[in-house]
Amino acid sequence: MTDAVIGRPLPRVDGILKVSGAARYAAEFDQPGQAYAVIISASVGLGKIQAIESGTAEKLPGVIAVISHRNAPRLPYGAHKGPIDPAHGERLHVFQDDEVHFFGQPVAVVIAETLDQAEHAASVIRVRYEARRPELAIEGVALLAAGGGRVAADKARGDADGALATAAVKIDSLYRIARENHNPMEPHATIAAWDGTFLRLWSKSQFVVNEQKEIAAVFGLPIETVQVTCPFVGGGFGTSLRTWPHVTVAAIAARHVGRPVKLVLTRRQMFYTTGHRPRSVQRVGLGAEPGGKLTAIVHEGTGETSRYEDFVEALTTVGTFLYSCPNVRTRYRLAPADTATPTYMRGPGEASGVFALECAMDELAVALKMDPLALRPANEPAIDEGEKQPFSSRSLRECYAQGAALFGWARRDARPRSMRDGRSLIGWGMSAATYPAFQGPASARARLTGNGPAEIETAASDMGPGTYTAMTQVAAEALGLEPDQVSFRLGRSDFSPTPPHGGSMTMASVGSAVQAAALAVRGQAARIASADPRSPLFGADPAEITARDGKLCLVADPARSDSYAALVARNGTIAAEASSARGVVAQGVSMHASGAVFAEVAIDPDLATIRVRRAVGAYAAGRIVNPLLARSQCIGGMVGGIGMALMEQTVLDPRDGRRMNASLADYLVPVNLDIGDLDVVFIPEEDSRVNPLGVKGLGEIALVGMAPAIANAVHHATGRRIRDLPIELEALL
Ligand code: MOS
Repeated sequence: MTDAVIGRPLPRVDGILKVSGAARYAAEFDQPGQAYAVIISASVGLGKIQAIESGTAEKLPGVIAVISHRNAPRLPYGAHKGPIDPAHGERLHVFQDDEVHFFGQPVAVVIAETLDQAEHAASVIRVRYEARRPELAIEGVALLAAGGGRVAADKARGDADGALATAAVKIDSLYRIARENHNPMEPHATIAAWDGTFLRLWSKSQFVVNEQKEIAAVFGLPIETVQVTCPFVGGGFGTSLRTWPHVTVAAIAARHVGRPVKLVLTRRQMFYTTGHRPRSVQRVGLGAEPGGKLTAIVHEGTGETSRYEDFVEALTTVGTFLYSCPNVRTRYRLAPADTATPTYMRGPGEASGVFALECAMDELAVALKMDPLALRPANEPAIDEGEKQPFSSRSLRECYAQGAALFGWARRDARPRSMRDGRSLIGWGMSAATYPAFQGPASARARLTGNGPAEIETAASDMGPGTYTAMTQVAAEALGLEPDQVSFRLGRSDFSPTPPHGGSMTMASVGSAVQAAALAVRGQAARIASADPRSPLFGADPAEITARDGKLCLVADPARSDSYAALVARNGTIAAEASSARGVVAQGVSMHASGAVFAEVAIDPDLATIRVRRAVGAYAAGRIVNPLLARSQCIGGMVGGIGMALMEQTVLDPRDGRRMNASLADYLVPVNLDIGDLDVVFIPEEDSRVNPLGVKGLGEIALVGMAPAIANAVHHATGRRIRDLPIELEALL
């Protein structure tokens, strides 16, 4: 009998395609007769376009067209808000007027026979502006109220400010996080091709069904006349959740020149118009009794947004539920700036909010002269005190215990600067981690065909976590097949719709739909077999038929069986479609993944260089579908957390918003030498309330606690409390 397929450390089913170059990414779907587009980006931070001098460029060899607000069609830009678009405000309209809202805004596009010709032509076009100085500060400016959707508006219980003022022990600090850009390996790219009024897009996207709807709305087209295809995503981290202006530019260009057009953003352009983690400033005040029991939590945060949209994320929500505390107040505000709209990035909201809260907990532990590992479980809540409802499951205590044991935390000398290795100062820091177990409505189609394999299709994406593999496992298990008997396809807008491939919700959402579709097609096959006089299962009750070893068989008598292949040979293809509606998500319970992160840093006492030597992440995220991929996913998240802690920042020139470091030479991300030894342990959770698969989602949880664990380790190593990310060595000198 087949071993359980869910839970197996199956290597990636698409691994060979990827390493052999056979996996095709958006920019690799070259079309016959294709021309090339290059965007010209605004070189001022605010103002109006006065003139676009393109006469010289238009006469250059190979140049087909130059499009700007002067000659672009006026587009309908119909209303459309996908689940990843800001609820308030209106998206940027490209080439519709002469306004420049931010540095790097697309102001024109050149289309030519070759990429070289388009790039050269773009380089000789002169744009003249009436420029004004943009306002880019997020402190000392007028703030907007925020909230809505999954983001808690301001919340309060008890009297947090009063309790903080009178607390026996308290800390009250400000934490700042720099802007970051996602910087996936694969650039944003779109190939657009019109066939009459039908628009085909091969486009990098974490959300193809939303891109289809968005572009249909922008151009005023029926949704079914837009097709988006994206079978592989070369890293996303959130930057490909929204449909950014370049997709519209590619479609405008292709329609204008009457040919397919390929548009690939440069690395530099990706720092301007494809979202970023918003800069944030947070205040956390904590009050406690001398024994460590929390009496007050004040968590206030401000995040940047653009002038034209209110981007919100769950910046201060963690303050409401991570710890038990009678007096809590959170406040979240937006600071609009003359910049493009931020977007979700790697553990959006929680990664930033937990940084402030968990550094503050470390500061409180120091003030209390208490082990930070002891302080946290001493304040472990029995329920979600913010929502006043139970957790579906919560294994944070086990995360602390197993993570600490693996790391060797008990050997820590609490005194700052007390641990050394040669000349290096050694610091050990830790943090809790939490991330919501999101789930959205999803659907999938399943088919049993004469070709042998079961075929599953869904419009999901796979930006790297292993969606192809994990979904194959879910379908195989439901159908009683081995993974190599399942063919799983994704990334097309005409497949069954799914929620965004983000928020760590794909396994919970799409996995549930794939399971439902596989069970539906199995049920359909059972009904056909029971009604087929040539089937050994003829006359059986379909409810008594199960599947194993590639066959349908009786639960009570597995020897009485009929193979899928034989059944299909007699009866033709069997198909079913199924959805996992939001209804499968339990109501009235609070659902989160949890984690505990431990990090060791080594700091040169003279040069202040900081090395992460090792880290341990202990994560409880429900059922783990594939431990091999889950481990990779968590290590990837931890690496992202090292980047957030020590390296990543997008530096704005305050005069115009130009990025001072818009390249991978200047925007630092961790490389192998920067990450040390990373280890991951999973705490198993049986949680049938989250969904039938029992999965909570994994990935972003692993980024969430890393930066505070490192910042706390830096304090332990040096005695210096650095509250601004990234922690640069200058801050320690
Ligand atoms: Mo993730 S930031 O939701 O792609």
